[in-house]
Amino acid sequence: MTDDAWNPDRYDRFRSERSAPFFDLVAEIRRRPAMRVLDLGCGTGQLTRYLHRTLQAETTLGIDSSESMLAKSARLTTPGLHFQHQNVETWTPAETYDLIFSNAALQWVDQHHEALLTRLTKALAPAGQLAVQVPANYDHASHTVATEIARAPPFRDALGGYEHAAARVLVPEAYAALLARLGYREQRVRLEVYGHWLAEATDVARWVEGTLLTAYERRLDPTVFDEFRQRYRTALVERLGPSRPHFFPFKRILIWGMARGD
Ligand SMILES: C[S@@+](CC[C@H](N)C(=O)[O-])C[C@H]1O[C@@H](n2cnc3c(N)ncnc32)[C@H](O)[C@@H]1O
Repeated sequence: MTDDAWNPDRYDRFRSERSAPFFDLVAEIRRRPAMRVLDLGCGTGQLTRYLHRTLQAETTLGIDSSESMLAKSARLTTPGLHFQHQNVETWTPAETYDLIFSNAALQWVDQHHEALLTRLTKALAPAGQLAVQVPANYDHASHTVATEIARAPPFRDALGGYEHAAARVLVPEAYAALLARLGYREQRVRLEVYGHWLAEATDVARWVEGTLLTAYERRLDPTVFDEFRQRYRTALVERLGPSRPHFFPFKRILIWGMARGD
């Protein structure tokens, strides 16, 4: 069992597919001179560096709770670009930001998104922007099969009843209503389906091994996790069918809002 099952190489396997929503999210941002930017769950930091450069930001701070993901970010550090090992759940920003950004990370934060976004909004400077992307694919077989296996013996006992909480991610209209309640003066929230052509259905399992399955990997002994992964692969490919290439539709929610300027 390890505390940190994030593996940058495994995560990077589907890098170009994963980065498409990142670029769509960046396109939502209103560029301002000398922005102070915060990137939550920045991972390896490569996309944080892109964000910093493309916005010509004054400062960008990337934070992440995984030492192994952050290990690669150290060499990206510049006078304006920094990285810190922090957990979003417990971290309190010491200053305010012109942009709080997060790509594919807040679904991992163990806090209700209403409370989380309320807390983050307090760290926005006047007219500051929030730009967040979260996956919304929890009804796809790649997730439901993992939950079914986690509920079955021997994994249920080994996991102490844990299953990855899909409920954390809200429906798109709930984010829109939340931003309205929090006083954002402008907003755009949308659900987008990213279609990925993968060589075969097993690639969906490989993809998920770099993300969702890490939550189970962290909680299981290596041999038990190995069995979990084998069972997951077999059951998922049975459910998805043997098509080659395989079309993997991936729903994501993109959230952008601008706070009041006063
Ligand atoms: C799917 S990766 C996304 C990485 C990067 N944002 C990207 O777009 O490539 C999710 C990241 O969120 C981080 N993460 C998960 N829970 C976190 C938390 N509570 N606090 C900070 N980072 C967290 C993980 O360590 C991981 O690096």
